[in-house]
Amino acid sequence: MGFVPHRHPFTPYDRAPDASADGFRAMPIRDDMLPPAPEGEFRHRIGVRPLDLAEWLPSDEETGPTIAMKRALIAERGDEVVACTGHGGAAAEEAAQLVAGWCGAAIGGSGVDALVEAALLVADDLTVLGPAGVDGGAPRFVAGVVCAPSRWSLRSKMGRTMLETHDPVPRYAEHIGAAVDTVLRRLSPDRPVWRSNWTLVDHPALFQPEVPDGPLVDDPSELWVRMERETLRRLPGTGGILFTIRGFQQPLPDYVARGREQARIVRDLVARLPDDVARYKSVLPHRAAVAAWLDARC
Ligand code: HEM
Repeated sequence: MGFVPHRHPFTPYDRAPDASADGFRAMPIRDDMLPPAPEGEFRHRIGVRPLDLAEWLPSDEETGPTIAMKRALIAERGDEVVACTGHGGAAAEEAAQLVAGWCGAAIGGSGVDALVEAALLVADDLTVLGPAGVDGGAPRFVAGVVCAPSRWSLRSKMGRTMLETHDPVPRYAEHIGAAVDTVLRRLSPDRPVWRSNWTLVDHPALFQPEVPDGPLVDDPSELWVRMERETLRRLPGTGGILFTIRGFQQPLPDYVARGREQARIVRDLVARLPDDVARYKSVLPHRAAVAAWLDARC
């Protein structure tokens, strides 16, 4: 089944929302995540900042509906949202204990079952990298509970290095491939970090593991700003890494209602994307219309 047009982030991309979705209004995206004004030519950026652990996985008014969505996806479509390689169990369990400890909760299961329990304590998705190989080889993506994929499939990433995981991202290898591996190698348990990213999407479902065949809306006012807040923590026991991803989305008109400066920033971010990156971000088909729409609001 393909994309079902709707405006409810907590309903999967291929289902129609029920009546409880009526009147939903997305909360504003947190100020500290907003992209700064771009300078110069486009480059992917690492952009990691020190993470205050008191603020690791904060809850807000969308936490409840996000956890409810996760619970339903895990029950009904577990093969799409939960994955673990044969080697991933120990790191997954350590990651789960870290999350549970932070939440002040106890976890009963082991391996990836523990990760599923932990994923239902927080709104964030949980992904786990194994330790670097004994030969110092690049760490691999070994486990995850991912209910808010932005047009990628969890299963296809299992066992992959960071370079392989990011293979569909144009210019990733050239701009930041080696630097990401360095950040991951240097990550220490006492120095967690976080970063954010952004894109424009034409469907608000948090759960959208597929890329649509073509544009889903014509009018820029129907687009959404989609951002992720991602955190990285080294797991001291297994040597793996826990990478959390929290997806947020807000209608573009609400987002630019913050003021002309934010409208200008989005306009400039979109304008400078090379075509291949704009296509990857699903922005290319909307670019001309969105530029004109944003110009009128700058
Ligand atoms: C400092 C660390 C990292 C950086 C700088 C980074 C950067 C990026 C960038 C630039 C994109 C393209 C999306 C966009 O432009 O909005 C991306 C996509 C992605 N990243 Fe990362 N990433 C990092 C760590 C990770 C880790 C640790 C994982 C997994 C455990 C991961 C999994 C992914 C996946 C699955 C995608 C989507 C790829 C696809 O479309 O198939 N990233 N990342």
